[in-house]
Amino acid sequence: MNILVTGGAGFIGSNFIFYMLEKHPEYRILCLDALTYAGNLKTLEPVMDNDNFRFVKGDIRDREFIFNFFGKEDFDMVVNFAAESHVDRSIEDPGVFLETNIIGTQILMDACREYGIQRFHQVSTDEVYGDLPLDKPELMFTEDTPIKTSSPYSASKASADLLVEAYNRTFGLPVTISRCSNNYGPYQFPEKLIPLMISKALAEEELPVYGKGENVRDWLYVEDHCRAIDLILHKGKDGEVYNIGGHNERSNLEVVKTILVELDKPESLISFVEDRAGHDLRYAIDPTKISEELGWKPTILFDEGIKKTVKWYLDNKKWWENILSGDYQDYYQRMYKDEQVNS
Ligand code: NAD
Ligand code: DAU
Repeated sequence: MNILVTGGAGFIGSNFIFYMLEKHPEYRILCLDALTYAGNLKTLEPVMDNDNFRFVKGDIRDREFIFNFFGKEDFDMVVNFAAESHVDRSIEDPGVFLETNIIGTQILMDACREYGIQRFHQVSTDEVYGDLPLDKPELMFTEDTPIKTSSPYSASKASADLLVEAYNRTFGLPVTISRCSNNYGPYQFPEKLIPLMISKALAEEELPVYGKGENVRDWLYVEDHCRAIDLILHKGKDGEVYNIGGHNERSNLEVVKTILVELDKPESLISFVEDRAGHDLRYAIDPTKISEELGWKPTILFDEGIKKTVKWYLDNKKWWENILSGDYQDYYQRMYKDEQVNS
């Protein structure tokens, strides 16, 4: 099996590559990533010498490059993680979200149509369903919940999902879509809630909690997400959407307080700041479909996963301190100069 993983130098994509190389040592994995601010080649160092792994730098928005690239390779499957992924950045500057998340997905699917593949898998998000009220805990997102987006980020992901479904229906492209809740774990970029709060607490800086900190997210340890995608690739039905989530709902304030306890830091570091514009109140996934049809279940509950995650950030300070200092951007410039493809 020859699998293209786009966006594999980011948080979930890199964890997926590690998972797949270990679970299926006979598979060949090629990671294509543009190495934006969120992509970090250092993350992939542990697998760079693996004979079944290759890295290529490239941008999914570049149609000519993508078609040349597909013409030289022979992929059985494509798993598309590549995206602009941070909601706050999409509020600052929506344009690149539309280009990468929508047009980039279209270009990849066009190349898949031209060169043929067994499966195009789109890694989507629960944010396409909008949000749920805080006072109705019985409500959850199912695959039939209507799409109703709040941020430019979620609108771009929802648009991509609609295009993926259209390519399946109109052109017969074999596709699957997964919509997962908030991930956490190793190698998450320190702009997202959990790693941001860990790094700030360690530096004894103020922890910026939006609004009253009452918004709820449904947290899933990243390895459980990777296992779900592997199952969908092998057992998922063509044209289907699968929700992924593990019933681990927590308010942001609860999450931040748990991190402070783990790090033995005072709650006085918490600072309530202006709320995010259009801030979704609550996400909660109903994973009945993937659980009943594919036998997926989460294995790591939040109380265990958050301890593992805090420990990982303590043990791997260099990884995120480099990012915060901007050193890793200099490293790319030295490494790649103006070249587009390296392998
Ligand atoms: P991330 O921001 O950590 O990584 C994104 C990766 O995509 C980076 O390596 C970046 O360099 C690469 N990339 C960006 N633009 C590119 C382009 N034009 N061409 C090629 N590569 C490009 O994101 P993440 O948190 O790992 O999320 C991965 C995917 O999972 C995204 O599609 C996101 O929407 C989805 N998702 C994320 C979560 C979450 O909690 N993080 C939950 C559900 C779904
Ligand atoms: O639900 C899946 C989504 O989860 C993914 O599709 C996105 O790619 C991913 O970034 C994530 O989106 P969120 O907006 O939920 O994640 P973020 O870590 O940015 O924020 C989590 C919550 O914490 C949210 O309610 C906003 C809040 N927050 C975030 C930051 C960065 C704060 O209170 N303070 C902060 O500084």
